[in-house]
Amino acid sequence: MWGCFRQWVEVDMVSSENRSTVNISLFGFLRLYMDEQGICPVFEAVRIAQRALQEEEVTKAYMAPAGDELFNLGMQRLVLGDDSSPLADGRVSSIQTPGGCGALRIGAEIIHAAAPHARVWVSDPTWPVHIPLVGSVGLGFETYRYYEPHSHGVDFAGMVDDLKNAGSGDVVLLHGCCHNPCGADLSLSQWGVIADMAEQQGFLPFIDIAYQGLGYGLDEDAAGLRLLVSRLPEVIVAASCSKNLGLYRERTGAAIFVCSDSASASAALSQAKSAARRVYSMPPAHGALLAGRVLSDEHLGLISFFTVGEDEVRAWTITRKTPADDAAGVIHTDMKKGFIRAEVVAYKDLMASGTYAEARKQGTVRLEGKTYEVQDGDIMEIRFNV
Ligand SMILES: Cc1ncc(COP(=O)(O)O)c(C=O)c1O
Repeated sequence: MWGCFRQWVEVDMVSSENRSTVNISLFGFLRLYMDEQGICPVFEAVRIAQRALQEEEVTKAYMAPAGDELFNLGMQRLVLGDDSSPLADGRVSSIQTPGGCGALRIGAEIIHAAAPHARVWVSDPTWPVHIPLVGSVGLGFETYRYYEPHSHGVDFAGMVDDLKNAGSGDVVLLHGCCHNPCGADLSLSQWGVIADMAEQQGFLPFIDIAYQGLGYGLDEDAAGLRLLVSRLPEVIVAASCSKNLGLYRERTGAAIFVCSDSASASAALSQAKSAARRVYSMPPAHGALLAGRVLSDEHLGLISFFTVGEDEVRAWTITRKTPADDAAGVIHTDMKKGFIRAEVVAYKDLMASGTYAEARKQGTVRLEGKTYEVQDGDIMEIRFNV
């Protein structure tokens, strides 16, 4: 048994190195992301939400079966994007679940209820927990080729070849980003090919996204998933807040149903609630109440600005409408005391220019005084005198 445990640790470490993220994997099959000190920290935004919740919470009564409304809406926006057309069309529903695992289980339950003989196509390899989580509902599996060890990339030709056999009524389980265990992800154009195949062959994509934001960014990591959602009538998503909000032990996740119309979205939610009732009844409260607050930034009013040094980029959390001198004080009290001015460029402008020098040439780097209200995503160099 322990030999098997070690083997998974090794596989996971390889995939971690490939993606060159700052993390150490402790349990081979469950990834924990840690800082350089080996600590799995409580994020600042979560701490602030926790303080607010402590003040405001008036009951420990059960959650509603679908969970917290603020959390569910926040997760739909986080995963599908603010400008998602299925969201605007009202054909999305979701249920708060105990972690991404709970979301996978609820997804599997409603697939089984609708199509007990559906085959679930999983990548070779896939996260080993997929098999008991989805399989114990009674669904059968097929595998598709995925990892190409020589290139450490995706064997896309093999994947396409195998998925040609997935038909209408079948389900294809895809890793939204940061594939566990192999770390190799599809390119956007490859996601496009999968969308073509799903359209033509009629299979249902079931996307497990447990690492949104830990690959290339929140939007970048969800780009493939969003492409599928924009093109197909039905997609099921299992999302987790364990890694991107560090809420592992709070068991916080969501099963999201993108359906062909709003009546089907309501029907899917009703099925999901019955499934939850069979498996665990009501979801846990704490993590979702925190995540709901963090995700609806108006609620906490938090934004981030950045400082860029030779060796590191740092994000600083402040409340919206904070003036520049107070923002400087978050970095060091001397910076507030001796504040002269700040050189500011918006993240989007810097990206559009490509380099800091080019942004300067284009006039998007500005000098601002101490009353300037810092904006979310500002990159600031603070001049001060002590
Ligand atoms: C691929 C994958 N899916 C889902 C999960 C489930 O995450 P959780 O249930 O902790 O939210 C994990 C956790 O490691 C994972 O690696």
